[in-house]
Amino acid sequence: MSISNNASGNLSTNLENRLQIEHLLNAATLSASALTEKSDVIAGLTQTPKSIQARYFYDDYGSQLFEQICELPEYYLTRTETAILQECAIAISQLTGACELVELGSGSSTKTRILLDAYNQLDYPLHYQSIDVSAGILESSAKALLADYPYLQVHALVSTYELALKQLKPSPLPNRVICFIGSSLGNLNPQECQSFFAQITKALQPGEYFLLGIDLHKSKDVLEPAYNDSQGVTAAFNLNMLNHLNQRFDGNFDLTQFEHLAFYNETERQIEMHLRSVCSQTVRLNALDLTIDLASDETILTEISRKFDLNTIEQELQAQGLNPTHVWTDANQKFGVLLCRLLH
Ligand code: AVI
Repeated sequence: MSISNNASGNLSTNLENRLQIEHLLNAATLSASALTEKSDVIAGLTQTPKSIQARYFYDDYGSQLFEQICELPEYYLTRTETAILQECAIAISQLTGACELVELGSGSSTKTRILLDAYNQLDYPLHYQSIDVSAGILESSAKALLADYPYLQVHALVSTYELALKQLKPSPLPNRVICFIGSSLGNLNPQECQSFFAQITKALQPGEYFLLGIDLHKSKDVLEPAYNDSQGVTAAFNLNMLNHLNQRFDGNFDLTQFEHLAFYNETERQIEMHLRSVCSQTVRLNALDLTIDLASDETILTEISRKFDLNTIEQELQAQGLNPTHVWTDANQKFGVLLCRLLH
């Protein structure tokens, strides 16, 4: 691939040799997934209660808003996980030894740098496979990493998790560590979570590793402000989903006629984000040939964010053959990072 903005020809060649970008989302997979997307949106908006898949948060503006959420004073998740990783990264690198890091949903790879720094100190060879559906973010963060880590090899996969996990080629290094940090596991329902663990187990060889970051159950006095921030960024993130749907499916959602709603469901141990219709209204999505009626105060579920109990999640991992060998938390037990090893 060509790297245009490097002054040095050698560095440019060197970067090219160390970077491979692969697109698994080809025309066939994209048109198959477009069909599934359409039927998922129709199913979600015609059932009772209504829902929209959380992936519609992430158009370009939504991704920017999410980056802003991670910096908010109330949103403790990113800061806390970063601090834990800073504490345990050296231990992780020593425990796994030379390895290939595979990151699911790598985004800007910011927290990954903490791991890369730790591996760098030990002078182990290191390969990094970043997996994300956004080709733009993958490419720019891969280039930034290569410039900062001279011995790193990067294989960037433009793909969904499912597709990438199915097609992982054997690691050239002795161990593989699949990383799923950022508590994105919380956005899966229990059934999706189980099938995700099964896919991880299938993708690993015995003895290889799974690194998982999860948000832990805690008082709703801490949880609810994290999803109802005082600057209204989370509200904008939630409402932007309707803009995204308008653009994607030629719709006419009027954002001023909906309100952000987020609360902790203590029974299910999950934050639920909804959009509440402030009046009775009819919305049309032309590309789906879909008309929906919303009653005043009717809600659309846009996301669940589950908060885990360490013992329960350890048992669930264990049941899938993923043995949690090390667990790190912050002093207040807000967040957990688990290193698991696939049993022989
Ligand atoms: C991506 N995910 C882990 C975030 C969460 O906290 O569940 C998404 C988010 N939704 C609202 N704020 C952040």
